[in-house]
Amino acid sequence: MSLIRILPDDVKIDTVPGETVLAAALRAGVPHLHLCGGHAHCSTCRVEVRDGEDGCAPPTEAERRIAEQLRFPPHLRLACQTVVDGPMTVRRLVLDAHDARLVDRRQRDSEATASAGEERELAILFADIRGFTAFSERLPPYDVIHVLNRYFQAAGEVVERQGGQIDNYMGNGFMALFGLHGEADSACLRAVGAALALIDAVAALQPYLLTAFGQTFDVGVGIHYGCAVVGNVGAAGRERVTAIGDAVNLASRIEAANKRFGTRLLVSEQTWTQLAGRAQIGAIHETALPGKSGSYRLIEVRGLRAD
Ligand code: FES
Repeated sequence: MSLIRILPDDVKIDTVPGETVLAAALRAGVPHLHLCGGHAHCSTCRVEVRDGEDGCAPPTEAERRIAEQLRFPPHLRLACQTVVDGPMTVRRLVLDAHDARLVDRRQRDSEATASAGEERELAILFADIRGFTAFSERLPPYDVIHVLNRYFQAAGEVVERQGGQIDNYMGNGFMALFGLHGEADSACLRAVGAALALIDAVAALQPYLLTAFGQTFDVGVGIHYGCAVVGNVGAAGRERVTAIGDAVNLASRIEAANKRFGTRLLVSEQTWTQLAGRAQIGAIHETALPGKSGSYRLIEVRGLRAD
C-alpha cells in the first residue's frame, strides 16, 4: 500500500497494489478527467509528477507512444497508465472541460512543435529600431506602417536565411529564435549572422528613407544563449510557438543596453562562448541590467571571421 497525494485537490489516498493513479483518484472521488476511458488514447488524464518519480512504474508501451507524439518530458505521465509503486505527489493538469478541449485540439495538431512545452537551449535574438518614435512622429500613420513592413520584410528574410524563426513582434521590435529544431551547436553563429545581416539591411535602407521621408533610423540587437521553455501558447486554433523564461528576459535587456553603450549588437557571455572565437568583437562591458541581479558581461560583436 502506498500513499499518493493528488493536487490541486490535495487528496491523500492509500492505494492498493497494482492500482493506477487514475483508479485511485476516481475511487477517492477526485473529478479526474479521462475522456478515452483510460485507454491511452486521449491524454486528458495527464499528471505532473511533483514528487516521488521513483514511486511509479515505468510507462506502458501505449503511454510511451502518446508521450513521444506529444513530446512529454519524463515527469508528465498518463494517470490511467501509471501504476503507483511508492509514495508520490502528482498534480492533475487537465482540470475542466475548457482544458479538455484545448488538449483535444492540440493532440490533433500534435505535429506542431512542443505541444506540452519543452526546455530547449536556444539563441534568442531581440531587435529594436532606434529612434523610431522621433522618426514616426513626423509621418502619417500609413507611411509608418509602410516603413515598418519594409523593415520587417527585410528582417524576416535575414532570420529565415539563417534558419531562425521570428516568434513575436512587439511594436517596432521582434524576437527571433535559433536552435528550435535541435541545431543548438550552430544556433549562436546563425543568430549573430542574422543580426549582422539585419544591421546591413537597415544600412541599405537608409538612402531610401532619406529620399522618401528625409530622415532615417538605426537598429539595436541583443542575443543571449540559454534555456527556455518552448511551447504552443494562445487560444485553441490560434496558438503559436513561443519561448518563455529568464533567458528571454535577459536577451531583451541586452538589446536595450545597446542604447546606453552606443552599440548595435551586444551578446551575452554565454553566446560569446558558443561562438568559440569566430566573432570580431569590440568593447566588453561589465554591467548591471534593469530588473536583474548581479553583473553581466556584454560583448559587442562587429563581424564574423571569414573562416
Ligand atoms: S484517460 Fe485517456 S489517456 Fe488516460
